[in-house]
Amino acid sequence: MQKIKIAILGFGNVGKGVWKILKENKEEIMKRSGYEIEISKVLVRDLNKPRGINIPENIMTDNVEEILNDKSIKIVVELIGGEEPAKEYMLRAMKAKKHVVTANKLVLAKAGEELFKTAESEHIKFYYEASVGGGIPIIREINESLTANKITSIIGIINGTTNYILSKMTYEGLDFEKALKEAQEKGYAEADPTSDIEGYDVVYKLAIISSFAFGAKINHESIYREGITNITSEDIKYAKKLGYVIKLLAIGKEQNNKLELRVHPTLVPEHHPIANVNDSFNAIFLKGNAVGDLMLYGRGAGDLPTGSAVVGDIISILRSNVDISINDNLGVKEIKDFGENKSEFYIRFNVEDRPGVLGEIATIFGENDVSIVFLTQDVINDDSVSVIIITHHCLERNLKNALNKIEKLPNINKVESIIRVEN
Ligand code: NAP
Ligand code: HSE
Repeated sequence: MQKIKIAILGFGNVGKGVWKILKENKEEIMKRSGYEIEISKVLVRDLNKPRGINIPENIMTDNVEEILNDKSIKIVVELIGGEEPAKEYMLRAMKAKKHVVTANKLVLAKAGEELFKTAESEHIKFYYEASVGGGIPIIREINESLTANKITSIIGIINGTTNYILSKMTYEGLDFEKALKEAQEKGYAEADPTSDIEGYDVVYKLAIISSFAFGAKINHESIYREGITNITSEDIKYAKKLGYVIKLLAIGKEQNNKLELRVHPTLVPEHHPIANVNDSFNAIFLKGNAVGDLMLYGRGAGDLPTGSAVVGDIISILRSNVDISINDNLGVKEIKDFGENKSEFYIRFNVEDRPGVLGEIATIFGENDVSIVFLTQDVINDDSVSVIIITHHCLERNLKNALNKIEKLPNINKVESIIRVEN
């Protein structure tokens, strides 16, 4: 059997997952790819770090030149993460005629075009299935199985860390910090978890899948973003009382050639399938004009699930599959002004317990075309109460205007939370 040499850049959670899969499933992979895969080099930053895995010392290196200058290495698997030096190493590997596999959504969202163009001009393959949805084969699904469809909407939970945190806060009453620490220990979080908890990771992933699904170049900076750092146990408790759970959703919709792209925590009805996607699981709901509704569900983070997608890409290169990697023919589509989007909203106010306060809030909502569908209140102490309101669908712009005015009322202590609702 022919041998093929590959190199892995980065030997953290995913790098080790890839190593384990290539060792554990060696026989199957040889049969399916027609090659014996030899991991020739593994690049790390710190050669002295204990790896907890049996790996020959002579293949570990902290010098990338040993990989990029080695003509016998045909595939480079980038699992370093972050923007640089990951991007530079990928571009240099491509220019050295090596195929590249990555799980790096940040680099794809920020510099995808440069990478696609270089891959095309160098006639090498560039695959990145693991960059969205961990083990869920969403990119292949959209580009191959669903390619006959016009996709009109994508709604997904596409970050394992935040879904783990929200699940633990909802069902086990854990506080945010403890749940985040657990997610980090399990290998779900990015090296800097700000990317997860502030929603950037979801924005990068939404930019990648939307570009395929809607056939348009997407600037990740044009996607509306809110993370989960403002979600409190009070909101989780009130949401539960009202029959909802809070999830960090990625939403992409196309209507009349205009795109609506947003990432934010959302109240979803507890009986909806998406409400029951917990822990590090991800789920993506697609609507195609031929297939109708479709849901993909699986582990969105972790060493082996992500490694599964990475090794799948390596095997695809070896099988010389049809080229699904190049994101060409992308048009330009207008992204709707965020204020023009419509949502239902959950709003929690802390107000003075005085006669007429509810009337003042309701009047300002009415004046701004925001209609209330539900209202309840809960005593906080002798002076103040929590007022919780759920609105009908209204324009983002109208809600913002109303809240700007309500905030200035003398009896309003604070607008504690504003969370969108998807019914
Ligand atoms: P990680 O655990 O932080 O591992 C990163 C590895 O890269 C470490 O081995 C580190 O070396 C090495 N590294 C970092 N900077 C380097 C540099 N300048 N030169 C050489 N080596 C360097 O990260 P991870 O969780 O495996 O994630 C890797 C990639 O996969 C990221 O792009 C991430 O977004 C993506 N991803 C992760 C998951 C997941 O569940 N974790 C899922 C999907 C996609 P040392 O060990 O010596 O420090
Ligand atoms: N940090 C990411 C997450 C890894 O938690 O989903 C998978 O992309």
